[in-house]
Amino acid sequence: MTDKKFELVDRATERKAQLPVRNGTIGPSVVDISALNKDLGVFTFDPGFGLTAATESRITYIDGDAGTLLYRGFPIEQLAEKSSFMECAYLLLLSELPSRKQLEEFTSNIRYHTMLNETLLRFFNGFHHNAHPMAMVSAVVASMSAFYHDTMDIYNPRHREIFAHRIIAKIPTIAAAAHKHSLGQPFVYPRNDLDYCSNMLHMLFAVPCEPYQVDPIASQALDLLFILHADHEQNASTSTVRLAGSTGANPYAAISAGVSALWGPAHGGANEAVLAMLEQIGTVDNIPKYLDMAKDKSSHFRLMGFGHRVYKNFDPRAKIIREMCHKVLARLGRSDNPLFELALRLEEIALKDEYFVSRKLYPNVDFYSGVIYSAIGIPRSMFTVMFAIARTVGWVAHWQEMISDPGMRIGRPRQLYTGATKRDYTEITKRS
Ligand code: ACO
Repeated sequence: MTDKKFELVDRATERKAQLPVRNGTIGPSVVDISALNKDLGVFTFDPGFGLTAATESRITYIDGDAGTLLYRGFPIEQLAEKSSFMECAYLLLLSELPSRKQLEEFTSNIRYHTMLNETLLRFFNGFHHNAHPMAMVSAVVASMSAFYHDTMDIYNPRHREIFAHRIIAKIPTIAAAAHKHSLGQPFVYPRNDLDYCSNMLHMLFAVPCEPYQVDPIASQALDLLFILHADHEQNASTSTVRLAGSTGANPYAAISAGVSALWGPAHGGANEAVLAMLEQIGTVDNIPKYLDMAKDKSSHFRLMGFGHRVYKNFDPRAKIIREMCHKVLARLGRSDNPLFELALRLEEIALKDEYFVSRKLYPNVDFYSGVIYSAIGIPRSMFTVMFAIARTVGWVAHWQEMISDPGMRIGRPRQLYTGATKRDYTEITKRS
């Protein structure tokens, strides 16, 4: 809290509200509006929550204009270059970088939980073979709440810790099982001698009848993508996890809600939508036609993978991933794939187009992530699932932060009601 205050005056009644200003450690200050309703009898109106800080948080900081992203204060560029996904998970959950011993302990705690209960594995048989993997993942994650009653007291820190290890360990196994179910292939059990991302690739691509060698460049690319996607402060899916969790719902239910929120094409579903869009555009010659459609407000077509609610200059993750994208394509010998060529041409043309330049619409992380996933052989329907695996770490960190806050309140937004005013019920026989 600072000494600074805003005073809001209702000119009709001369009633006043004093609104204190609260400062963060960095970034814009916020006006605390808690007195607004008590003193003036009004609420605020902020559709899409674009201007509303719904919580205080110490996890991730974003400056959309400067293109800054910090996890617990550490710039994403440094973490992408020097860290690993497991280390970032530790950092996001436990606030500090681990010592070697702490990291080993944390990693082995995660490894300990990678297997799924066999009964849980049988749930997949209830899904049709062409079920979307996000549908299977959100359902199976929610159903985990039926398995771990003994460690689901949300106010017990040890229970919360076990939940965190369990969900981070099991979500790749669930994701891979969803993929195998779609293919009609046998589930592949986790290999605890492999690191997190290599194990993920093994469970996705290995088959029991022949040996499978993990490609180190694929594992490295996955680790980088997971670092970049691990958290992004109060985005739609994280806010969903917080809102669901604020009711006291069990954490598996809250994470499942986050998976569902992530699925939408305006959020995590964008990486899948990018590849669908590239296929729809088809050839470089068609780019101008689709750019015109993206600018036409009467068309629902948007350039997927472009624009961001917060980053209005550039997405720092996109910068990092763009480099990796070129490296992966070159190393895997896929640079001549027409879709990848199309992606690079689209990027080049849109970055020069007045409409996109004036609205500060730049390629976001998802423009490139789909291209990388595709190059390493991950099918399009699995892209958002891969995002969900990485973001699980952020969701858990935010859920933990919220539950351990003694001031936690149920999330309950208000509304501006514009419907019918009070009227009397008419019997059905008297209605025209
Ligand atoms: N293609 C064409 N026009 C666009 C696009 C786009 N991808 N994105 C925004 N615009 C236009 C809007 O029509 C609007 O134009 P106007 O000022 O003439 O009315 C202007 O740019 C501002 O757009 P908003 O919709 O107000 O931006 P908002 O912050 O609400 O939306 C969003 C951000 C949802 C990401 C949007 O840019 C979008 O739909 N992008 C495509 C989907 C996508 O890539 N999502 C991934 C986000 S990153 C992530 O989740 C990891």
